[in-house]
Amino acid sequence: MMLKNCIAISDFSREDMESLFSKALEFEKSTENHSKLRGKIMGVLFYEPSTRTRLSFESAMKRLGGSVLGFADAGVSSVKKGESIADTVRTLESYVDIIVIRHPLEGAAKVSAEHVDIPVINAGDGGHEHPTQTLLDLYTIMKNKNKVDGLEIALCGDLKYGRTVHSLVSALNNYNVKLKFISPEELKFPNKLKPRIKNDYEEHSNIEKALDSDVLYMTRIQKERFADPTEYERVKDSTVLTYDLAKRTNAMIMHPLPRVDEVQYEVDSLSNAVYFEQAKNGVYTRMALIDTLIGE
Ligand code: CP
Repeated sequence: MMLKNCIAISDFSREDMESLFSKALEFEKSTENHSKLRGKIMGVLFYEPSTRTRLSFESAMKRLGGSVLGFADAGVSSVKKGESIADTVRTLESYVDIIVIRHPLEGAAKVSAEHVDIPVINAGDGGHEHPTQTLLDLYTIMKNKNKVDGLEIALCGDLKYGRTVHSLVSALNNYNVKLKFISPEELKFPNKLKPRIKNDYEEHSNIEKALDSDVLYMTRIQKERFADPTEYERVKDSTVLTYDLAKRTNAMIMHPLPRVDEVQYEVDSLSNAVYFEQAKNGVYTRMALIDTLIGE
């Protein structure tokens, strides 16, 4: 695989993704005693909050024998003094071998990659893309369903701002699936992204329409991206997966997490709720990605 950076999921062909999944499966069998990246350093620049993405990247790098430096809060860095992304990454390039960046602005990872010669990984740029989430999402589907082709996949919640959905829909162009978009009118999948969808899709507002799907991918309403807080209050409870609804579906229930109220906690006890397994798969897929970018 000739991959220099990971900026958008469209950087990956189906073969690229499946080659990464094979490698991730090997890492899943044994996450211990790897020393391939001894002496290598990962820089993590998180300008937005994160639990899973940052910590699973750090876990992945350390499990590969490497080390990590960076910040989880740009407020403690010279960004606070007005330093640009370009100057920050150019400086970091002297200290590390690979950069992982999360930023509220669309295109921030791409701009970073243009200013350095070391690999850059997009850990989420605004409401735009979250390609490594998609890698772990597809890996989770593959492992549980043994296939992606032929599945009916419902994507439910904030389809306007949900970057995980935008990247997943793009990746699914490599497969033959049927998509169902379930959201309130205000949070529909963006019209500007629709021309890129190669699979058939339907749009609905009622979550009950998702229950006969093979995969139900729930998402959080992205409060932080609303300009008007009253608008958030109006839509925040529009697509909630209650325990009663969840008991009526055999769909594999996924969620990139964090969740707020859109999946009731009782749903966690159902055998088809896989979102914590999904988060765990982030370590193996990110190990595979880091190894591909700087280990080979
Ligand atoms: N799924 C995800 O990106 O989670 P975090 O925001 O906790 O990293």
